[in-house]
Amino acid sequence: MPASTLTRRSLTDRYQSEFPNSRKLFDQARQVFPSGVTHDIRYLEPFPVYVERAQGAHKWDVDGHELIDYFSGHGSLLLGHCHPAVVEAVQKQAGRATHPGACHESEIEWGQLVQRLIPSAERVRFTSSGTEATLMALRLVRIFTGKPKVLKFAGHFHGWHDFVVPACDPPYDGAAIPGVLPGVQTETVILPPNDPALVEQTLASDPQIGCIILEPTGGHFGAVPIRGDF
Ligand SMILES: Cc1ncc(COP(=O)(O)O)c(C=O)c1O
Repeated sequence: MPASTLTRRSLTDRYQSEFPNSRKLFDQARQVFPSGVTHDIRYLEPFPVYVERAQGAHKWDVDGHELIDYFSGHGSLLLGHCHPAVVEAVQKQAGRATHPGACHESEIEWGQLVQRLIPSAERVRFTSSGTEATLMALRLVRIFTGKPKVLKFAGHFHGWHDFVVPACDPPYDGAAIPGVLPGVQTETVILPPNDPALVEQTLASDPQIGCIILEPTGGHFGAVPIRGDF
């Protein structure tokens, strides 16, 4: 048996014996969620770790391990877990109104903070997810330009709606994506990243392309770096 197989096996055995309560929860989760997880990125072999609580840069799992959290809430936890100022603000608001279902002053303050962070944002629209944001942005492009096509780059991730899901993951061979209508898939033009000359050439040769979408940071950033002039 090759040494690498032995090593992988002994690591897996150690993992299974150190995290028995996570295993039990995963067995339950598999009866509820596809692949047992609520986000694809949490899918781990042989099972993921289940977290009980977190504080600052650390998480504690259901088997009593203290773990350093390199995940940082998918990038959202600039202040770490349960920062006292955040906890206090959330508690204060939860006692005042949890979902007003109406306009309120805090939404204006929140929108203004977004504008301060992104000065080019003349107006702000809140969405429930990044998938929804890119879906709406592409619809807006079609209305504004009257052009149906979007140009995207192989390996760049923009959520999981039909127009951006092609060429998210390798192989980038343009094969049909199950459930995505062929007529929709042909409206998405795929190029390899990091080739500005090819982008110019493609835009010049296809007048039906209304916009370019790219991932300067996000889901696949780091794995698919953007280089130089690009
Ligand atoms: C660049 C980028 N766009 C869109 C999305 C999709 O966001 P969501 O998972 O909220 O739908 C992501 C998520 O990782 C992303 O990194």
